[in-house]
Amino acid sequence: MSSLKGGVGKTTVTLGLASAAFSKGLRTLVVDLDPQSDVSTGLGVDTRNHLNVADVLASPKLKTVRQAIAPSSWTAPGHSPIDVMIGSPSAINFDGPHPSAREIWRLEEALATIESEYDLVLIDCAPSLNALTRTAWAASDRVAVVSEPGLFSVAAADRALRAIEEVRRGLSPRLQPLGLIINRVRAQSLEHQFRIAELRDMFGPLVLAPLLPERTSLQQAQGAARPVHAWPGDAAAEMAHNFDLLLERVMRAGKIGQDAR
Ligand SMILES: Nc1ncnc2c1ncn2[C@@H]1O[C@H](COP(=O)(O)OP(=O)(O)OP(=O)(O)O)[C@@H](O)[C@H]1O
Ligand SMILES: [Mg+2]
Repeated sequence: MSSLKGGVGKTTVTLGLASAAFSKGLRTLVVDLDPQSDVSTGLGVDTRNHLNVADVLASPKLKTVRQAIAPSSWTAPGHSPIDVMIGSPSAINFDGPHPSAREIWRLEEALATIESEYDLVLIDCAPSLNALTRTAWAASDRVAVVSEPGLFSVAAADRALRAIEEVRRGLSPRLQPLGLIINRVRAQSLEHQFRIAELRDMFGPLVLAPLLPERTSLQQAQGAARPVHAWPGDAAAEMAHNFDLLLERVMRAGKIGQDAR
């Protein structure tokens, strides 16, 4: 999950997809590459006695990788937990503006040691285009760009998609945009309707369905470190369904990627 703009919903979408994957029983790893570590918090991970993603970037060996992964506290009868590669403020030390090729491939190198153990790996990025985000893209098949339906967000989404294209051409030919996830939509807002039409004009089929509405139940579930699929109420159920649909799209894209290789 990427965006060059902060606070648009990258972590929310990561948590929503993780919740959908959890309820489906997929073996899932969430990588917290944001120094703010919000997704580790939302997954309720107990970080004691563990290494973290900064240690992995310093030394992408299997032993370090295993020690940096902890289970989420999300539980449900008969479901195996989501795994989390724990975030850390120290990751900021790996977020320079001019990463070397070796630094950019570090996460890919680390994930290659364990990715056969998972059906899905989700990476939550920080809102920038420095080394950490490039490291995430180099390790990915698909990037979902998250955007709000606002003026500056449209420009930021455009920049992010161009940057993905640049990385695809220069660094990682397998990288593709999954598409644009539009978040915090207020159906009654004329401004939002206008921006959504503009995004569809600019990006056509890259605008993914469903659009994600603004719902406080999401914030409540996040605040309680619970999966939205387990949160009571119709609004949470609606959001859970939206994330189920987005997850289907993610998994379909993964299959296409593998077939094409
Ligand atoms: N669809 C939504 N409905 C209601 N609240 C939302 C929605 N999406 C995001 N939020 C809230 O907006 C805030 C910012 O969202 P989030 O943390 O997911 O953004 P982010 O892009 O990860 O931010 P950052 O760039 O800081 O990492 C959070 O408090 C989150 O709960
Ligand atoms: Mg975030």
